[in-house]
Amino acid sequence: MTVATAPGKAILFGEHAVVYGRPAIAVPVAEVQARAEVEDAPAGAGITIVARDLGRTIHLRHVKPGDREALALARTVRNALERLGHRSEPDLHITISSSVPIGRGLGSGAAVATALVRALTAHLGGYLTSREISDLVYQTEILHHGTPSGIDNTVIAFGKPIFFVKGQRDDVFWPGRPFWLVIGDTGVSSPTREVVADVRRGWEADPVGYEAHFDAIAAIVEDARRAIIDGNLPALGRLMDDNQRELEAIGVSSPELETLIGAAREAGALGAKLSGAGRGGNMIALVEDDTRGQVRLALMAAGARNVIVTRVS
Ligand code: PMV
Repeated sequence: MTVATAPGKAILFGEHAVVYGRPAIAVPVAEVQARAEVEDAPAGAGITIVARDLGRTIHLRHVKPGDREALALARTVRNALERLGHRSEPDLHITISSSVPIGRGLGSGAAVATALVRALTAHLGGYLTSREISDLVYQTEILHHGTPSGIDNTVIAFGKPIFFVKGQRDDVFWPGRPFWLVIGDTGVSSPTREVVADVRRGWEADPVGYEAHFDAIAAIVEDARRAIIDGNLPALGRLMDDNQRELEAIGVSSPELETLIGAAREAGALGAKLSGAGRGGNMIALVEDDTRGQVRLALMAAGARNVIVTRVS
């Protein structure tokens, strides 16, 4: 049996604007993981995927056209097999499980697909670079999101902090000083596809206004990269607050997110913002060594469904 894993991710800066060609910064979150196990199946069995979290067993040969979940997994497997040079379908039993919450902006779909591609590659004795894996997973992301920027598959496949510009740059970079993030879950599921479509409608109705917000976000992201490289955490916190204001202006925040963001700031976070598509999902707060415990408790008290503390280095 061959096992592979992949981490979740959090977008630190630049979500939504990244869809419109502006830069964004994302980091892997190792505290949540997707895991795939691949083993040989009896001859003629074809490929079966047991998706534990979905409570489903999927036979690749019998996937129905409208079944998006199953299609995404089938597409991932078939693309990987093709990339690895397998013309015919091998007989495989695949089990997938994941602690990355679904629909909360932590990259669950990309994490599952990355673990799956890694496990298949290793099991079949192939070799793919991180970039090749990222490109394959991007094909799956298209099924989940419609018009993904590609930031999720990139940060998850590389497993390092990245500075990303759609179709142009995916630079791995290293913080000058490690820092801590507290990630609070509103408990509200928010399909990325819908929020991205709403932003598109807003942009179509008011292109000049939205472009100005995206430009403001781009400037924040550039400053944030500098602050991360310099290890200037107070500046980084302020930039998170600035980015949150822009996200509120384009209509992707929510009362639940703002309650958690306010609680984190009051408890001593250096800055806080929503992360990912918004409307629900997770928020992130930048904390120092001596405030991470109290920010975590404040988020729980303010109603967070779950809180993750992660170190970015
Ligand atoms: O998958 P999420 O919820 O982290 O959102 C992705 C971030 C967006 O910028 C909103 C969309 C994208 O494709 O980059």
